[in-house]
Amino acid sequence: MINIIGLGPGEFNYLTKLGEKLIYSSDVLIGGKRNLESIKDFKGEKIVLSTNLKEILDYLKTNLHKNISVIASGDPSIYGIGKYLSNNISHENLNIVSGISSLQYIFSKIFVDMNDVYITSSHGKVPDFDYILNHKKVCMVTDNKIGPHEICKEIINRNLNKIVVVGENLSYQNEKITIGKAEDILSINNFDMNVVVILDEQ
Ligand SMILES: C[S@@+](CC[C@H](N)C(=O)[O-])C[C@H]1O[C@@H](n2cnc3c(N)ncnc32)[C@H](O)[C@@H]1O
Repeated sequence: MINIIGLGPGEFNYLTKLGEKLIYSSDVLIGGKRNLESIKDFKGEKIVLSTNLKEILDYLKTNLHKNISVIASGDPSIYGIGKYLSNNISHENLNIVSGISSLQYIFSKIFVDMNDVYITSSHGKVPDFDYILNHKKVCMVTDNKIGPHEICKEIINRNLNKIVVVGENLSYQNEKITIGKAEDILSINNFDMNVVVILDEQ
């Protein structure tokens, strides 16, 4: 069986009990380097997930007899490896275990409900900001090309009144949540790994 397990936003206590149980009973654990390091005292084999997903797919397909867990940050079905593996491995061999997404985590921290939120990402694409900024409540996972600064410039260019929330290193000890208008966020120099929430001003 291939498990795809969401680890939650990062801090180990956010991992579900089921996820933890499946991880520690696996023969093989596959994941990004940092995610693998977060799983202490694992007795089986650890394989670092390469950027070549086809390689991992081939490995999984030839090792279906093993008990393998692929670990992913947050929820694997939100801009994670869940989509690729669900599309390429027969579902009777696959078990996806949800985790708490960094997006869910930030909404809890700022006491805003997630009803009707538009979820999107800037990873590997040019976002359609006309479409995105037309929503009242948006949450974006970002990358180092399009992050808080680029988002805020798009807001300012359109003269929109939005509140922007940047959640960095969520759930880790160096977590930082900054809330402000686009101009305030633009005046901050650097951001670590982050998600951005964009809300209509009330
Ligand atoms: C490939 S996406 C994975 C999202 C993940 N599946 C989830 O549900 O949170 C990676 C992006 O998620 C966001 N992210 C994941 N964990 C985070 C954390 N602890 N703090 C801030 N942002 C995080 C960042 O935008 C990062 O670039």
